[in-house]
Amino acid sequence: MKNYIKHDPWKIIEEGFHRDHNRISESIFSIGNGRMGQRANFEEHFSGDTLQGNYVAGVYYPDKTRVGWWKNGYPEYFAKVLNAANWVGIDFLIDGEQLDLAKCEVDDFYRVLDMQKGYLERRFEATLASGKIVKVKAVRFCSIVDDEVGAIRYSITPMNFSGPFELTASIDADVMNEDSNYDEKFWVSIAEEVDHQEAYLTAETKKTAFQVCTGMHLDIVRGGETIDFETTHLKREKYVACNTTVEVAEGQELVIYKYAANLSSENHPKAELITNCRNVITQAVNKGFDQLLQEQAEAWMAKWEESDITIEGDVAAQQGIRFNIFQLYQTYTGEDERLNIGPKGFTGEKYGGSTYWDTEAYCFPFYLSTADQRVARNLLIYRYKHLQRAIENAEKLGFKDGAALYPMVTMNGEECHNEWEITFEEIHRNGAIAYAIYDYIRYTGDKSYLVDYGTEVLIAISRFWSQRVHFSSRRGQYVMHGVTGPNEYENNVNNNWYTNYIARWCLSYTLEAIEHMQTNSPEAWKALEEKIKFYEHTETKRWKDIVEKMYLPYDEELDIYVQHDGFLDKEWELTINDLTPEQRPINQKWSWDRILRSVFIKQADVLQGLYFFEDEFDVETLRRNFLFYEPRTVHESSLSPCVHVVQAVVLGMYDKAYEMYLRTARLDLDDYNNDTEDGCHITSMAGTWMAVIKGFAGMRIKNDRLYFNPIIPERWEGYNFKVRFRGNLLKVQVQQSGTLITHEAGEPLEVQIGDQVRSIQPSEEVSV
Ligand code: BGC
Repeated sequence: MKNYIKHDPWKIIEEGFHRDHNRISESIFSIGNGRMGQRANFEEHFSGDTLQGNYVAGVYYPDKTRVGWWKNGYPEYFAKVLNAANWVGIDFLIDGEQLDLAKCEVDDFYRVLDMQKGYLERRFEATLASGKIVKVKAVRFCSIVDDEVGAIRYSITPMNFSGPFELTASIDADVMNEDSNYDEKFWVSIAEEVDHQEAYLTAETKKTAFQVCTGMHLDIVRGGETIDFETTHLKREKYVACNTTVEVAEGQELVIYKYAANLSSENHPKAELITNCRNVITQAVNKGFDQLLQEQAEAWMAKWEESDITIEGDVAAQQGIRFNIFQLYQTYTGEDERLNIGPKGFTGEKYGGSTYWDTEAYCFPFYLSTADQRVARNLLIYRYKHLQRAIENAEKLGFKDGAALYPMVTMNGEECHNEWEITFEEIHRNGAIAYAIYDYIRYTGDKSYLVDYGTEVLIAISRFWSQRVHFSSRRGQYVMHGVTGPNEYENNVNNNWYTNYIARWCLSYTLEAIEHMQTNSPEAWKALEEKIKFYEHTETKRWKDIVEKMYLPYDEELDIYVQHDGFLDKEWELTINDLTPEQRPINQKWSWDRILRSVFIKQADVLQGLYFFEDEFDVETLRRNFLFYEPRTVHESSLSPCVHVVQAVVLGMYDKAYEMYLRTARLDLDDYNNDTEDGCHITSMAGTWMAVIKGFAGMRIKNDRLYFNPIIPERWEGYNFKVRFRGNLLKVQVQQSGTLITHEAGEPLEVQIGDQVRSIQPSEEVSV
């Protein structure tokens, strides 16, 4: 755990240069706009420890899977979002000496991510080996208004000398993913052009043939006046740059404006990429840096207006929650239904920027409640569009008749992960995808989704479950063998309670969906039936039988659900209190062999099911299972603590809830798991939101109404947030004195707070 980020409600601040933590800071201070993003690498050359990272959404490479012994059914490739052209580079030779923070004395270093206005700023004073001192202030952002545009204002002032500053502003696509499976570079050059103060570079990905054109325009202002300058053009394969030398007097400020654009062939015809890129650059230059920044700030402030959570009396918690919301919106805006949310967003390479079950299980509720309904719908449509691929994934494994297995890791619908045992058998992901459909409809009331898309997906998923289980004649029940539950610290288990439960639930929810269509949209149902060749009587007969006879492991003596067959034959008497600090995290300290046979659980598994299906259990059942499983959970997935917060609040275990909350809220800011250098835990950030809104504020849908049952963590004075619900915008203020709900926009509606149901008109406030 680190503690070098200064606490502030709206800003992430690093004071003093923490060289040893540079990779961590590069992750934390990342910027993005849903379309592209980058780590907080320095503009000027840096020879110290750094992970260069620029990413363009949707542009990936199918890196051939690396395994020892190939087996049938293995995915051919591991898809990764590519490290793309680096457009931030502005190198300086100051009177012949390179500006490189790894090699000079650095004073007054200050790096700030302004979350309210959406920009990154860095200031410092550097003393070069020659004793020359320069003062620098660099501001940059990825525009959320013009989402193909990025801009930099780099100001540098000689403090104790006058002399020539040679600067090189570049675009460099000769980059590599650190996690490349075979140390391969993934880009080939298509075109390089440099023209005075502009440069354009087009590169194409190997195999997938995505093209990205990156452009830049340079303006220079000296002592407050824009100057004309000559440039030398540097051009080599996958690299373009403008180089110029400017005489600068002592105390005179030299400002470099670098406008950049990233256009991808996903959004533009390849033949028009350069022309369109020129146009985007011209528009950005015409607006100018100040206007672009002003628009950026206004757009971010408007986003905050609807999605902020304010926490009174605890600045660390306030900063933590805003950081999470900020990073989520930097990663995914919901504008483009082809895109999704990688576990590290644009902040690092790990997990390849691909889509995981994280989206449906953790991120979905955040977008459902804070953004326009269209955004959550787009996330569902993303999976709908991958349905055919999911059917093919299942076919590759021997399933048939339209059974679909959604991938655990994907870019385009095809399964593409690196690790067989852990990820492949986590078929529970199919359940989370069905659950998101249910969650969407329950929250929005938009049943048309079920008719237009949802039922088709549900049937394909149910067909999979129906083929994946088998009937055990000894038990007289259906069982499911050879799976991995959400707890990846045990693989290839039989009858994982969570998986069996969610499979059974999927089958009965699909039966309801079919009935809904038959009653309300018989024609659409008929068309669907024909399209997917649905044999109602044989198929649903088996589904009903499975629903009735699914085996769900349970232990009578302990009166708990058993994570999977044989789990209680482990040394279950042990709890995490039996682990010494030196043994943790066990995934770094223990052998895989030891982990697999230990009782320690990586993340919520049975409890994940109890969280999803809370209404189907009484509180005492929730309590018994929580008290058994939580003490054996090491929470070594960042997705774990949030689920525990929600349940601990229901059980009145407020201290436990707060302890778990702290683990998620500042996970990256304090580098809790010692891995922020790989990138931030974007998908778990949605879990932090969930911990506040579903945990502390107790938000649920009950009886078709929005329901709250708020508590306030002891260290907080109060907290406020907004949620959207069925076209309405509500502001919820939770204070020691009570809860105030203000209806900010929409139609009259009823809300429930604790056991009180209140009608609320637009612009009205109700307090409880
Ligand atoms: C978790 C998975 C998750 C993946 C990506 C793993 O550590 O155990 O549940 O899908 O990370 O976030």
